[in-house]
Amino acid sequence: MKDKLRSQGWFGKTGKDGFIYRAWMKNQGIPDYEFRGKPVIGICNTWSELTPCNAHFRELAESVKRGVSEAGGFPVEFPVMSLGETLIKPTAMLYRNLASMDVEESIRANPVDGVVLLCGCDKTTPSLVMGAASVNIPTLVVSGGPMLTGKFQGRDISTSDVWRFNDAVRTGDMTQEELTVAEACMCRSRGHCAVMGTASTMACMIESLGMSLPGNAAIPAADSRRKVLAQLSGIRIVEMVKENLLMSDILTREAFENAIITNAAIGGSTNFIIHLLAIAARIGVPLDLHDFDKLSANVPFIVNLQPSGKYFMEDLYYAGGLPPVMKELDGLLHGDCMTVNGRTISENYLQTETYNRDVIATVDAPFNPLSGVAILTGNLCENGAVIKPSAASPHLLKHRGKAVVFNDIEDYKRRIDSPALEVDETCVLVLKNVGPIGYPGMPEVGNMSLPKKILEKNIHDMVRISDGRMSGTGFGTVILHASPEAALGGNFAMIQDGDYISLDVANRTLTLEVTDEELTRRKQNWKPIHKKYDRGYVSLYQRHVQQAHLGADLDFLVGGSGSEVTRDSH
Ligand code: FES
Ligand code: MG
Repeated sequence: MKDKLRSQGWFGKTGKDGFIYRAWMKNQGIPDYEFRGKPVIGICNTWSELTPCNAHFRELAESVKRGVSEAGGFPVEFPVMSLGETLIKPTAMLYRNLASMDVEESIRANPVDGVVLLCGCDKTTPSLVMGAASVNIPTLVVSGGPMLTGKFQGRDISTSDVWRFNDAVRTGDMTQEELTVAEACMCRSRGHCAVMGTASTMACMIESLGMSLPGNAAIPAADSRRKVLAQLSGIRIVEMVKENLLMSDILTREAFENAIITNAAIGGSTNFIIHLLAIAARIGVPLDLHDFDKLSANVPFIVNLQPSGKYFMEDLYYAGGLPPVMKELDGLLHGDCMTVNGRTISENYLQTETYNRDVIATVDAPFNPLSGVAILTGNLCENGAVIKPSAASPHLLKHRGKAVVFNDIEDYKRRIDSPALEVDETCVLVLKNVGPIGYPGMPEVGNMSLPKKILEKNIHDMVRISDGRMSGTGFGTVILHASPEAALGGNFAMIQDGDYISLDVANRTLTLEVTDEELTRRKQNWKPIHKKYDRGYVSLYQRHVQQAHLGADLDFLVGGSGSEVTRDSH
């Protein structure tokens, strides 16, 4: 333990300041002894009825508190901005950085010695971890857990079916009434999306980084063992404070490499890249876009979950959860990375077992030798773009086609189903101005639906390119995060209808077959078309957001300011 608890800088004082710090807290019925040297544990809660994936978090917080009290700590729950993926317009990603500022300042400004982050829906995990990393006190993550698998008309469904249902309604294969029934069948329990979408990917990222107790990622939200894990986490964070085990002791370069390798093996979301880059930059670990390709190139896909595979998070839990997946990767991973439970990551995973080989395969006999994410470079995107090969169509991984360009999302919506649109399945759909600055906020529209006349031919995939993101539940031959985005006027912004584009995933290239001279000529006549905001957070965001290849954080949030506050409030 450090000589003095951070919280004693508030509660340990005498005179006027100590009186003010303690007296008002006592209106909650807290006895005086709670303030006399117990580790104070903040429970950072993203509970909100507008974030359905996190709506059960007050109950989860109670379990954490029980553990904190049991271990001799003093638990204090506090709310932070909550980002629900499904309701927030124009996209929850616009507010990830804002929420991270709330988290960072809330932790630093308050008398807490350690913090438990309650994470769940897609953006809550990165926003909380980014914010906490910029303070760097003992920190442990408890995830809310995935929903139970959806059941509809006798079969298993989950979030990935949303895109299929949408196409089925458009082609008349499903009625609106059936779609309404499917809504309730899909989301039938508490928890976040049940496939290996972004929320589950983030939970696996946290566990593979060593930031949660082992097993945290896969326990369903509705399973009583989720509460057990929350209580054990409450006990553990108190010990972490006594050991002064900081976030920076866990989030080393090797831990980030472990997360990248694990993410490849589980077929995790492309959003993982952006969030991990942002977290690394906050804690001061050098990481760049090409690390993702280098580290995951030889990692096969061994977790058979949708959208790249067949099953759901519930099945992963029954198969043993994430620890036996990491055990399969032993030899690729840095086994000696420290984790929040005080043991190394390999000590945690080596003692576990796989119970279902349909769900967790071995590295030698994987579900797909292709995995992870491939980073594409070429003149089309000077700073890179991203594709998830395991979710793409094998026959399109090498492809050359004519561009069909949509200048923004409204242009796309207006023309995509028009009989007059000149398009066939060999074309490449290009969607511009859905990047961080252009939309703003980089929404998940990159897996745009195909033109109706293509779907009617029973063709369900084409090469698509954008400067936006894709839901972690999405799939298809979809190239994302083109950087620089269209709003900045790089080569991506210059693509015109009829230009030839060639994609070669094996060689990691994405080429716009237009000469440099022609691109220079086009740039001279180019003007940005995105809306510019002149007040409020969105204006701050547009002026300071970094490009996707850097993690899309605000430039002034990179790094951290530590946990020290020297001045008192009165
Ligand atoms: Fe919250 Fe998918 S909408 S995790
Ligand atoms: Mg999402």
